Amino acid sequence: MDRAGALRAALAARGGPRLPTVEWPESLVSTSDGLKALARGGAPEWSTVLADAQTGGRGREGRTWVSPPGGLYLSVLLRPRFAKVGLLPLAAGVAVAEAAAELGVVTELKWPNDVLASGRKLAGILAEAASGPAGVEWVVLGLGVNVALEASAVPPEIAGAVTSLAAEGVGPRPISEVAVAVLARLGVCYDALRSDPGAILSAWRSRAAPWWGGLVDVRTADGPLQGRLRDVDEEGALVIELEGGERRRLLSGDVDRVRPV
Ligand code: BTN
Repeated sequence: MDRAGALRAALAARGGPRLPTVEWPESLVSTSDGLKALARGGAPEWSTVLADAQTGGRGREGRTWVSPPGGLYLSVLLRPRFAKVGLLPLAAGVAVAEAAAELGVVTELKWPNDVLASGRKLAGILAEAASGPAGVEWVVLGLGVNVALEASAVPPEIAGAVTSLAAEGVGPRPISEVAVAVLARLGVCYDALRSDPGAILSAWRSRAAPWWGGLVDVRTADGPLQGRLRDVDEEGALVIELEGGERRRLLSGDVDRVRPV
C-alpha cells in the first residue's frame, strides 16, 4: 500500500471520514490550488491533497505560507449542506487544536483560526469557497501545521513568531500521524456543525485566547480598526466595540492584542 492508501486506512480504522481520493506528491505549488481544480471538476467531498513541501504555499490575506519539508500541508474538499457555513473555519481551528492536544500540546485559538502554542503560530487555516445560485457549493480547507520545521528553513523575519510540535516538546512523529489526528477531529467537528453548531462555537470560545474585553487592533480590507474584543457571533463574525460604543461585526481580518506601553 502506498502512503496515501495507508493514510486512508489509518483514518478509517479510527472511525474518521472516508476519503474518496488522496493525492500526496513530494512537492506542489499549493495543495489548495491542486484541490480547487479537482473541486471545479466535481470531485467528491473529503477529496484530499497533501504535499511534503509547497513551492507557493498561500496563507490568509494574500500572505505566503512558508512550506519547507517538516510541515503538514493538507487540503480537504468539503461540500457543506448546512446553514452555518461561516463557522467552518472556526470548526477547523477547533479540530487542529484538539489534534494538537491529543499530541500533548496546549494551544490557543486566535480569530478566525490561527492556532497558537506558547504565543507563537503552530498552525494556520485557509478556507476558500465557491458559491452558486443555491449557496456555497464547495469549500477547500487548507491546513498548515508546523510539525518539525528546521529553524534554518524559516525566514529570520518570521522565525520568532512561529513554533512547531517538535519545538513544543512532541517527539518525532510521521506527518501521516498528524494528518490522521487532524482529519479525524475535523470529521467530528464537521458533523457537529450540522447537528449542533452552538457546540462548535462553545468549543471555539473555550479554546480562544482570553482577550475578551481587552483592546485589540484589527487589520481589515477597509483599513485598521481598534476596539474592545466582545464576542464571536453565531455566524463566526468577530464583534468588537469601538470607542464610543458602536459594535462592528467583522468577517475577515487580522487581530492583535494592544499591549500596554
Ligand atoms: C494562514 O495564513 O494562517 C493560513 C495558512 C494556510 C496554509 C495551508 S498549507 C496547505 C494549504 N495550501 C496552501 O497553499 N495553503 C494552505
